[in-house]
Amino acid sequence: MNLDVDRDRLIQEIEELAQISDAEAPAVTRIVFTPTDLKARAWLITRCEKAGLAVRQDPIGNIFARWTGSDSNAPAVGAGSHMDAIPNAGKFDGVVGVLGGLEAIRSLKRSGFRPRHSIELLVFTSEEPTRFGIGCLGSRLLSGSLSPDEAKKLVDKDGASLEEVRRKAGFEGELEEVKLPRGHYKAFVEMHIEQGPLLERQKVPLGIVRRIAAPASLRISVEGVGGHAGGVLMPDRRDALCAAAELILAIENAAKTSGAVDTVATVGICEVFPGAVNSIPSRVNLIVDLRDTDLRRRDAVMGKVKAAQEMIAAKRLVSIQETLLNADAPAECTPEIIGALSQACAKHRQKSMPMVSRAYHDSLFMSRLAPVAMLFIPCRNGYSHRPDEYASPEDIARGVAVLAETLANLAE
Ligand code: GLV
Ligand code: MN
Ligand code: MN
Repeated sequence: MNLDVDRDRLIQEIEELAQISDAEAPAVTRIVFTPTDLKARAWLITRCEKAGLAVRQDPIGNIFARWTGSDSNAPAVGAGSHMDAIPNAGKFDGVVGVLGGLEAIRSLKRSGFRPRHSIELLVFTSEEPTRFGIGCLGSRLLSGSLSPDEAKKLVDKDGASLEEVRRKAGFEGELEEVKLPRGHYKAFVEMHIEQGPLLERQKVPLGIVRRIAAPASLRISVEGVGGHAGGVLMPDRRDALCAAAELILAIENAAKTSGAVDTVATVGICEVFPGAVNSIPSRVNLIVDLRDTDLRRRDAVMGKVKAAQEMIAAKRLVSIQETLLNADAPAECTPEIIGALSQACAKHRQKSMPMVSRAYHDSLFMSRLAPVAMLFIPCRNGYSHRPDEYASPEDIARGVAVLAETLANLAE
């Protein structure tokens, strides 16, 4: 098979997609079901159709672009990722797996390969949690990891429900129709930038993911007492932001002292009410993101975070409420798919190394539906979720060639 990746076109497409954004270049912002997200979807669908793929979208907006195999009833081989982007993100997170997946399929078509199993490009809805507070909406629903009833309770910060928003965006049908039967996929492979520095540091061009860390997130609301910034004396204060500040440091400390570098905790959202310079903060909402490759250790850190809340609430006479937004188990990649990726690397004479994904991905949830594995490519300095995220054309094209080889092997 003569696999010839059209690197220039692929890079051109990554650049074009980056321009469909709500942030000023080089930053990319593409939030689910905004006009920008819908524009990006339409742009991608046109490209999939040009490539001769049959496109359908399900009621949550997952996009399936299928190259039907000679045995159309056999389970499909899936590849893909997401196109939504958090505020002030870069252009490669998710996109490399989507456009790289499309180019892998196109290169297989050009090579004359004819699959027995259908090959399906999947673009997941809202891998990022930006709008509805929970990531991987599409893959959670596809795999039955989130029930339609739970999904219907989700609202965005303006109070609009997921149901309302998706229907307005043109996605009709019932969420109950989204879940796929086990056996729909024979295998699922997601290519992604590493979002960490290890490949680059070790000068290895490809990573094969064995395990995806377990993410969890919490909303913590601190309720204190507001008042005049001049009039209320310091001994009388019950400042919600000061209590939250103490809690944020306790969260950092809980992660740092877990005994493993694999425990990470981030408070990425801190909303302060009323948010006036001369008013004591009366209420603070924090969103905490906590992850670990080891479920027990992560849960132990969550226990410490809870204990810190109780201690700080008692000491500072504030009330602290915690809501668990999600707490997912880690995923193991499947040895057969890891093997297919390793074989493809060997065939292309590319060095690879086993990796853990500390970021989460739709593959975490796809692993509950099908055998999965992930292919990582390096990104400069490990930067991701920032505008200067960068993966080189050579690294992307190398990943696409290995992905194509893997898909061919699995679809034969
Ligand atoms: C995905 O974007 C993550 O936060 O890991
Ligand atoms: Mn991301
Ligand atoms: Mn991603």
